[in-house]
Amino acid sequence: MPGPFRIVVLASGRGSNLQALIDAIVSDVLDAQIVGVFSDKPDAFALQRAQAAAIPSLAIEPRLFDSRAAFDEHLFTRIDELAPNLVVCAGYMRLISPCAVDARRGRLINVHPSLLPAFKGLRTHAQAIAAGASVHGASVHYVTPELDGGPVIAQCVVPVRPDDDAESLGWRVLSREHPLLIATLGLIAGGRIALVDGAVKLDGVPLQIPLQLPANNVFA
Ligand code: GRF
Repeated sequence: MPGPFRIVVLASGRGSNLQALIDAIVSDVLDAQIVGVFSDKPDAFALQRAQAAAIPSLAIEPRLFDSRAAFDEHLFTRIDELAPNLVVCAGYMRLISPCAVDARRGRLINVHPSLLPAFKGLRTHAQAIAAGASVHGASVHYVTPELDGGPVIAQCVVPVRPDDDAESLGWRVLSREHPLLIATLGLIAGGRIALVDGAVKLDGVPLQIPLQLPANNVFA
């Protein structure tokens, strides 16, 4: 029998997505194991969350490397030592070099706070408000060399209210982003979602549109 599904998390800051995953695993909502947490920021609160949960964690500082590629080679060598099934970028605010991404197609995902392909990059909540969007949300997608451009697996949608500012909208998205990531990881860990020839397949069938997180937070 195979062991638990092994996840490595990359995080640059607060780590609320990491905490949501830790809590989901402890409470048996998600059948997986976080085998390591890595950060490009030594003071990332995510590292403290990992330590509190007795998960091996490591900060690696980009300034100690000559290039992005050299940093990523070192980072992913350390990650590969843990033999993860999947690497999850959860608030990891650093571009990953194309060669590191290409070597891990289908085994590297990111959670992004917008309904991709809308509002790539930073300050997505402010972007959504400035654009007059009536709905906003979050996406979990496979990482490709194109920033926030890889095939989208699943999304959650929230309304944009007339009195929203970026902060209030951001909290609403985050409250749905956590269950979105947990439910999506459940499908991947269960072997139901895979990236095949550049397309996301659910139970072997290509998705026509990203999965939409239901109100009960469980994909059928
Ligand atoms: C999340 O909104 C994530 O989608 C984005 O950065 C934020 C990180 O939050 N990429 P946290 O560090 O998980 O609390």
